Amino acid sequence: MRRWQGDGIYFGGDYNPEQWPEQTWPEDVELMRRAGVNLVSVGIFSWALLEPAPGRFEFGWLDRVLDLLHDGGIQVDLATATASPPPWLARAHPEILPRRADGTILWPGGRQAYCPSSPVFRERSLELVRAVADRYAEHPAVVMWHVSNELGCHNVHCYCDVTAEAFRGWLRERYGDLGRLNDAWGTAFWSQRYGDWAEINPPRTAPTFANPTQQLDFLRFSSDEQRAQLRAERALLTTLVRQPVTTNFMIGTGIKHMDYHSWADDVDLVANDHYLTAADRQAHLGLALAADHTRGVAGGDPWLLMEHSTSAVNWQPRNVAKLPGQLRRNSLAHVARGADGVLFFQWRASRAGAEKFHSALVPHAGPETKVFREVCQLGADLKALAEVRGSRVDADVAILFDWEAWWGVELDSHPSVDVTYADRLNALYGALWRAGVTADIVHPSADLSAYRLVLVPTLYLVRDADTDALRRFVEAGGTAAITYFSGIVDENDHIRLGGYPGAFRDLLGVRTEEFFPLREGEQVRLDDGSTADVWTEWLHADGAEVLASYTDGPLPGVPALTRHRVGDGAAWYVGTRLDEPATDRLVARLLDEAGVRAAAPAPTGVEVVRRRDGERTWLFVINHTGAEIRLPVAGVELLTGTRCAGELAVPAGEVAVIREDRS
Ligand code: GAL
Ligand code: ZN
Repeated sequence: MRRWQGDGIYFGGDYNPEQWPEQTWPEDVELMRRAGVNLVSVGIFSWALLEPAPGRFEFGWLDRVLDLLHDGGIQVDLATATASPPPWLARAHPEILPRRADGTILWPGGRQAYCPSSPVFRERSLELVRAVADRYAEHPAVVMWHVSNELGCHNVHCYCDVTAEAFRGWLRERYGDLGRLNDAWGTAFWSQRYGDWAEINPPRTAPTFANPTQQLDFLRFSSDEQRAQLRAERALLTTLVRQPVTTNFMIGTGIKHMDYHSWADDVDLVANDHYLTAADRQAHLGLALAADHTRGVAGGDPWLLMEHSTSAVNWQPRNVAKLPGQLRRNSLAHVARGADGVLFFQWRASRAGAEKFHSALVPHAGPETKVFREVCQLGADLKALAEVRGSRVDADVAILFDWEAWWGVELDSHPSVDVTYADRLNALYGALWRAGVTADIVHPSADLSAYRLVLVPTLYLVRDADTDALRRFVEAGGTAAITYFSGIVDENDHIRLGGYPGAFRDLLGVRTEEFFPLREGEQVRLDDGSTADVWTEWLHADGAEVLASYTDGPLPGVPALTRHRVGDGAAWYVGTRLDEPATDRLVARLLDEAGVRAAAPAPTGVEVVRRRDGERTWLFVINHTGAEIRLPVAGVELLTGTRCAGELAVPAGEVAVIREDRS
């Protein structure tokens, strides 16, 4: 791992000067300096300009851009420029174009039109990486390398013949012989037995449900293929350059197909892109979750927010703009949750192309705007927060998250389409957020010993080793809570027999004999006053204490919520989809039992998070409400530079960051 350097919080964004006449560049640098920008990502989509014809490189313009930035004191995160191949490559090699499951070819004209398994693409892209790295390895502006861009964003699943052959190779590695593959895929079913590797294909469009393990393995393979591009570029870069290497992940509940927990070791620092779901009035919860998850992927280390937006995006159905103050709240929430840099897409709003309606640091209307004023304010804020760099975030709660469990639970032909992976994750996370409690979102194989409470939403697919680790955590005194449709299958998507929730049956002290999913819109009531929907199950307490049972619905009198004492701790089971108030009550009980408290006693709607570095602590307070709030704290408020003696007032919509007095 190469350390990332620098002594403050990074601030800036994607800079695409090639979209503008050269005369605007000096003004760009001047405005960057005014805003306090100190890092820009350059060259991400520049392949067609850097290599206008096969093997002919034109670096003059990029030389001038990098020199200009360096003279202005702006550092550069330099792209390998492989994100989107130039039109000439597809013309010379149409076999690199990706195909959908039904055979449709995805043509150039957008971006990322390449098959991730294409050896031609790999070879040509690495030639470009070599050329760029050779030229700029020693350029004084370059402090970081940016591999490709959002690998897998549009082309993660390709079903072409080249991919089919690569998939067979991946399967041979995994299974060694066909017999093991036939067992793992359960091919005794529906006459699917394979007698030759050549008979195996990606799960292309079929008359009905494709084999679930074939689908699952294809998802694993596809994530690995994208990671292989990252690995290949990074391996080459490390022979040519000395700066740290990263790429921008897309950790959030909208992007499903890259298993970033398995990618984390392939970057020197974890970087993420995050965009709000504009339709969601509580979108700041999704932001917080993504940030906590990014920190989890980074193993708790500081990370870099590579992209977010100053205001609206262009790719949602209705692109809601950010209200005054929202940019600051959003950006500083990422910092609160461990980001040591906040960058945006993009520096200057484009005047042409598919993203011309996407916001930027410099809008179409120019610098005399709300957006640019807020950008300058943020630059000043981040300067004032320089001292938090390198500190870590306090969290006593972990939520287990596994991309493979997500893939598994949302495969077709399951008991209910209403059981989705993000649903209970968002519900439990939301309850913690409202309680002012920070959680690390971590892989089930993570070390759990430092946590007091572990939440396990919908972990449909789980490995034996991870089940054992959770049991040890509980035995040692921890509190765990597991929601329905968890522990159902092993890593081959085979049912764990003997009653649900197979892997967790003993830990939970329950045994379910049959699922009773509910009809659309149907609700059930519990004898503790809660309501629930989507899911019920015929559950028997088998050692567990029953905390609540159904009073109506298909299973009156059957337990819905249980608690099982195991060793010095307890394991709770939630057998139905509790509504929000009931989830909040449940989480409050769990926090109480585990002895976990909020970072600060704040009213609902106020985000409180603590970062810590040895003896020093910083409390971030983000007031999402429409009213001024007051909190008991003492220390120095860094954004205003004022002392606060024992009570802090944070006006509606504002943010405060306090270096706390040591008590
Ligand atoms: C990201 C991408 C950027 C830009 C941005 C728009 O997915 O990395 O290049 O497209 O979204 O929101
Ligand atoms: Zn392909």
